[in-house]
Parts: sequence; C-alpha cells; structure tokens
Amino acid sequence: MNSLQSYSRIVFFTGAGMSAESGVPTYRGKGGIWDQYDYQDVACQKAFEKYPEKVLAYHEMRRNLLLSCHPHAGHAVLTAIENQHPEVIIVTQNIDGMHQRAGSRNVIEIHGSIWRMRCPVHGIFEDMGETYRHYTCPHCDAWLRPDITWFDDAMNEQVMKRADDVVSHCNLFVSIGTSAIIWPAAGFPELARDYGAWCVEINPEATKLSSLYHETIRLPASEALQQHPFMASR
Ligand code: APR
Repeated sequence: MNSLQSYSRIVFFTGAGMSAESGVPTYRGKGGIWDQYDYQDVACQKAFEKYPEKVLAYHEMRRNLLLSCHPHAGHAVLTAIENQHPEVIIVTQNIDGMHQRAGSRNVIEIHGSIWRMRCPVHGIFEDMGETYRHYTCPHCDAWLRPDITWFDDAMNEQVMKRADDVVSHCNLFVSIGTSAIIWPAAGFPELARDYGAWCVEINPEATKLSSLYHETIRLPASEALQQHPFMASR
C-alpha cells in the first residue's frame, strides 16, 4: 500500500485550514476573515502608511485570538513525523506560528509571521505577546509593521527560494487546508508534481487544484493526520 512510510523527502504545505480546528478562522468562505474585513483597510502597505494605528490594532486583535487558541492533535502528528524523518519540511502560508508552538522546527513561513515586527531601516524584531512590545522602532522611531506578506507586497525572495527548492526536491508533497488560490504559493502543487513527487491533498472540500493531486483525502486536517491509512502507516 502506498503510504507516508514509502517516502523520505516530505513537504507538508499548509494553509489556514490547518489551524481551523484550533479555532483560528480561515480567510475565505463563511465566517472567514475576508468576509469580516477588507484587506485594503487592514492588510496592505497603503493602509499601513495611511493609518498605522488601525492596521496594528487589527493585528493585535488577531494576536489576542491566536494566543487563546492552541495547536491541535494534527499539529502534533506533523511534529512527530518531523522527529522520525529528518527530511520533513513544513512550508506554511500561515502567519500564526501554530506549527512552532506544537514543536515543529523545520518550518518555512512564506507569508511571514505575526510574531515578528519589521523596521524599514533596522530590520526584524521578534515580538510575541498580546500587545506589541514596541509600536515604533527603538532605534529610529519609525512605525514597525508586522513581518507579514500583505496583499500587493513582494515575496521575500530568500524564503521563496528555499521553499521552491524543497518543493522541487521532495518525493512526497502533502497539501493541508489551503484553497490554493494565492500566488505564488498556488504554484507549489504543480511544481512538486512536475518534479515527480507523489501529491496528496487533505481538505474537506475540493479546490481548484484538486485534479492535480494523485490522491485526495476529504477530511478535516486533524482526522486525516491521525487516522487516515496513508498517514497512519507512519
Ligand atoms: N481541515 C483541512 N482543511 C480545512 C479545514 C480543516 N478542518 N477547514 C477548512 N479547510 C479548508 C477550506 O476548505 C479551504 O480550502 O481550508 C482552506 C482555507 O482556505 P483560505 O481561507 O483561502 O486560506 P489559505 O489557502 O491559507 O489562504 C492563502 O490567502 O489571504 C491570504 O495571506 C493569506 O496565507 C493566506 C492566503
């Protein structure tokens, strides 16, 4: 039987659906973040330049919610797999830090992290907590912005290069909980497939890319990761 055990170089590619069972809302669909907020008001550089306080308050509200949520059993499964297989990498679109809170170490955050702040001159600061430690840079007083890839931002080239590299060298690519409509991340399933990886999609719903995958598991992330025979064989 084809199973996780047959592969050595494994990429888990995660999106908001991975954190849904932790209580973190997804972006799209009913009750999604973009149902409640307009990204042009809270998640783009233009808005930040116009109303830094408003944009920071939105992200602080999200930090508060995230700190009241906890990684679920599916996150723990990924950490356990990472501990058993040295060549497991998680490429995540999530900014919530849940994989790291569950103990995962090999995590590439292609959209950045809500737990880091960035000064245009003095670089990046770790900043974990309900409220920000600093709203402005301690060195130059500029407003600090969350180190997140917002709409219309350029991707971090170094991070994307690392992600491209692991995706094109893996032999198993498992996508979990992403609608896969935001580029360039949406190109990863095809990239993995073109380079010969076995591609599996875990998502209770079909996505635009479902037909690209060799196998689809129509279950919530925690159930699929804990119980599906493909995963259980680990
Ligand atoms: N388990 C697995 N998948 C789930 C679950 C669950 N329990 N619940 C929902 N999903 C799936 C949904 O069916 C949907 O396909 O998760 C997906 C979430 O899609 P989006 O909300 O679009 O999130 P994501 O794909 O991560 O968005 C990509 O868009 O706005 C940007 O920067 C933001 O990183 C984000 C990017």
